[in-house]
Parts: sequence; C-alpha cells; structure tokens
Amino acid sequence: MNITLTGASGLIGGRLVENLRKAGHTLTVLSRRPADGLAEGIAGVIWDPMQGPPPEEGLRHADAVIHLAGEPVAQRWSENVKRRIRNSRVVGTRNLVAGIAKLRNRPGVLVSASAVGYYGSRGEEELRESAAPAHSYLADVCTEWEREACAAEGLGLRVVPIRIGVVLDAHGGALKSMLPPFRMGVGGRLGDGRQWMSWIHLADLAAMFEYALEHPVRGAWNGAAPGAVRNAEFTRELARALHRPAVFPVPTLALKLLYGEMAEILLASQRVVPAAALAAGFRFQFPELAGALADVLG
Ligand SMILES: NC(=O)c1ccc[n+]([C@@H]2O[C@H](COP(=O)([O-])OP(=O)(O)OC[C@H]3O[C@@H](n4cnc5c(N)ncnc54)[C@H](OP(=O)(O)O)[C@@H]3O)[C@@H](O)[C@H]2O)c1
Repeated sequence: MNITLTGASGLIGGRLVENLRKAGHTLTVLSRRPADGLAEGIAGVIWDPMQGPPPEEGLRHADAVIHLAGEPVAQRWSENVKRRIRNSRVVGTRNLVAGIAKLRNRPGVLVSASAVGYYGSRGEEELRESAAPAHSYLADVCTEWEREACAAEGLGLRVVPIRIGVVLDAHGGALKSMLPPFRMGVGGRLGDGRQWMSWIHLADLAAMFEYALEHPVRGAWNGAAPGAVRNAEFTRELARALHRPAVFPVPTLALKLLYGEMAEILLASQRVVPAAALAAGFRFQFPELAGALADVLG
C-alpha cells in the first residue's frame, strides 16, 4: 500500500513508520521540517498543517492516510498554547481533508488520532465509543478534531478516529517523564489516586492503527487497553516494576500549581473500554498493565 503519514516524527509515528516499512508499504511523510533524517525509501514532503492543504505530491499516490500531527498537549496551557493545540488539530485536519478533496484518485481510508480526552472526567462510568463527549476545553478540541476527520467520509473515505489513552513507551510520552522520580524512589499517586487511567502499550497502539487500515471498519475506536486501572494501582505497578517504593503522593493542589489547567489531564478519571477494536477482532498483545510495564521497562 502507499501510505501518507503526518506526525511521523513523533512517538507514535516513529513506531508506525518502522512497522509499516517492515511490512513492505511505501511511505510518504508530511512534515513541517525538511526530510533530513528519513530512512531510505521514505519520501518527505514539507507541509505546515496551519498553512493550507498539503502539496498534491504528498497525497497523490496514497491508498491510505494516517494523521497524527498536533502541537504537544503535555505542556502548561497558556492561551497561546491552547490556541496552538486546538488549531494544529482542528484547522490542520480540515486542511488535510481539503487536500484529499482535490485529488482525482482519493485514498480509501483515513486513520486519524484523537484522544480519550474526548470523554472528559467521568468517575466510574465505563466509556465505550458510543458514550457522549464531555464539554471542556480538551473534550471540545477532540470533538472538533474528529468532526474534521470524519468530513472525509463525505469524500468516500473510510474514517477511523482513534481515541488514544496514555501511550506506554520508555523512550517518550508520559511514562518517560514519570520514570526519573519513580527510579529515585520519590514517585507517588496523583491526587487521591482514585481516577481511572486508560493506557496502551505503544506496540498495541501501532498494531491498532495498522489493523484499522487493513480491515473494513469505520467510526471511532478507543485506543486503550482493556485493563484500565486507577492511578493508585498504576503507581503501585510502576514502582513494583522498578523495584522502588512509591510513597510520595502528589497532592491535587501541587499538580494545579505545577501544571496549571493542564493538571486536569492527570486528574481526569477515564475508564475507557476498547469495545470497537475488540468487536472487530483486534487482539491486544498487552491487555494488562503488569505485562505491558514489564515489557516496556524490560
Ligand atoms: N502519546 C500519547 O500518549 C497520546 C495520547 C493521546 C493522544 N495522542 C495524540 O496522538 C497524536 C500523536 O501523538 P505523539 O505522542 O506521537 O505526538 P508527538 O510525539 O508530540 O508528535 C506529534 C507530531 O506532530 C507534529 N507537530 C508538533 N507540533 C505541531 C504543531 N504545532 N502543528 C502541526 N504539527 C505539529 C510534529 O511533526 P513534524 O515536526 O514532523 O511536523 C510531531 O512529530 C497527537 O495528535 C496526540 O495528541 C497521543
């Protein structure tokens, strides 16, 4: 297959590029930066999602498009940063779909990132894909982001937005920033630790994107493992995997002082169930946290 990817230089994109290349696909990468460090055989096309549709050469031969690009969410949210987080996704996705609309031969499928932030904070509720979205800054961004991606359905594409949870990998994302304090033995639960955390091993998430490309599925998927845990349990498992104590809880107030409004991500309770993926026959290699952490940290 000819596959065009955005956000290929990021945590998830990097793993996907590696897997898709090994599987023999032909890849084109759309990036804001020149294609310098790209592996042999991968075509690079410069595209800034905020500046309009991608150049036609970036999409012309695509059978499938994977869309991951977006301003990092894990940073202090000033008004400026919030605008960039939203626009890079909402306007960026709109521009990508406008580029697809201009093609004579359109790709068959768009698999696009979204986030479990779609659901807001929902206590004990089990969140399948049919659950209604919340209304908060981040939930609204996710809703609009998915709406822009799903506009490609009107162009004849199959669209699968994947609502991603906390991606587990030792070399990037949330876990990488949690490791130093946990390794020093000063890790601990966040707030009261009762909030549900929906996580997924990077290998499973990459496999899920590939599965959605290759199977006749459409509509949103939850990109989280079946074994969601409370933050306190996550903390215990991580400490156990590292053979360290984790007895220093971080109070809610400290998180709010440290991270401002972004602390809501760390404190939100999201008990996500990957119902659509399981129903479509997708099998997780790492359904439970202990196994996922052992692999990631092993
Ligand atoms: N990792 C997670 O735990 C997680 C959880 C939920 C949702 N997601 C979503 O999944 C997607 C990929 O995640 P990731 O962790 O792989 O992200 P990442 O490592 O931060 O990479 C995202 C990519 O987006 C592009 N980008 C960054 N800032 C941008 C901006 N202001 N405007 C346009 N493009 C920009 C960059 O590509 P170029 O520099 O090549 O242009 C970058 O490589 C993101 O949209 C993220 O929100 C991730």
